[in-house]
Amino acid sequence: MLYKFIVRPILFLQSPEQAHYFTFRAIKFVSKIPFVSSIFTSMYSFNHSDLNVQIGNLRFNNPIGLAAGFDKNAVLVDEFANLGFSHVEIGTVTPKPQSGNDKPRLFRLPQDQAIINRMGFNNDGADVIAERLKKRKSKIIVGGNIGKNKVTPNENAIDDYVYCFERLFDVVDYFVVNVSSPNTPNLRELQEKEPLKNILATLQSINNKKVKTKPIFLKIAPDLTVGQLDDIVEIVQETKIQGVIATNTTIARTNLKTNEDVVKSMGAGGLSGKPLTERATAVIKYISEKSSKSFDIIGVGGILSANDAIAKLDAGAKLVQLYSGYIYEGPGLVKKICIELAQKNNK
Ligand code: FNR
Repeated sequence: MLYKFIVRPILFLQSPEQAHYFTFRAIKFVSKIPFVSSIFTSMYSFNHSDLNVQIGNLRFNNPIGLAAGFDKNAVLVDEFANLGFSHVEIGTVTPKPQSGNDKPRLFRLPQDQAIINRMGFNNDGADVIAERLKKRKSKIIVGGNIGKNKVTPNENAIDDYVYCFERLFDVVDYFVVNVSSPNTPNLRELQEKEPLKNILATLQSINNKKVKTKPIFLKIAPDLTVGQLDDIVEIVQETKIQGVIATNTTIARTNLKTNEDVVKSMGAGGLSGKPLTERATAVIKYISEKSSKSFDIIGVGGILSANDAIAKLDAGAKLVQLYSGYIYEGPGLVKKICIELAQKNNK
């Protein structure tokens, strides 16, 4: 109530990107006030042993995480630990820092409870982010979502993924190979069989040489054909990575309530939020069935309510993540989902 009727209208007076950084500064500032962290924890967290999820060697307190792109530079990892999430996925991180696309590059579609973004992997780079993560204090699980720099040609993309993997290895708990952002030219071509197999097999072989391995996930687009999804299932099984994150944002612009000309004026980018809910769930269901649940799936895309989260878990996801729903519904959404899940489990 407080969020939807007071905080959100104030935030929405600012441009989406200004509102994002304003919120980050506000969370950082108030979290320094004594007792605020514990007040946040009691307001926004919900713990119940029924909600624990085991993935590889990681134990998640609940199935809800913050999706990649929200805390790209890992500046609020400890603060998000107090806001009820079991995990935060930082990134997408690239080897070198880069500023991303020109602004404006982030747009709200309130009628559709959706967002269009073409941020283009703006981030501080793997070296700075790794140093920052060394200082983290909380025990929240951190995923390192990794990608390639815009200037790196696809033939050399593997070097960028290996660099980020090695640089972040000691400071994150799991990895995500992002080949599905629509905002880095030609990146999604890396979802094709040969380049994908090469990237995943290389990272997994480096992983297997470590004293303790880290789960590796592949993040995929919602716009893949059935044939491409079949290839993905085969490659994930063959390379024996931990699983798949489904899905990233879509390049489709279907079934929107927002005026077509307004949508067109926003230009290129990935669409997220409510219009993505059903497609992302369908992708999860398809790969879960096709793979006979032989690997883990993290579900993301258009979760704005507990029912949306439950639908993704029922479709085969072990964990879910939020981005757009967190903007539209506010910080209370995490606890709301956890409470409904615990009640559902006890029925
Ligand atoms: C994203 N997302 C994203 N994903 C990723 O793997 N790396 C990234 O850097 C980003 N950046 C990013 C920025 C912005 C502004 C948005 C809205 C989204 C995609 C995100 O993690 C998620 O997969 C989609 O947004 C779908 O989930 P929601 O937003 O519908 O809950």
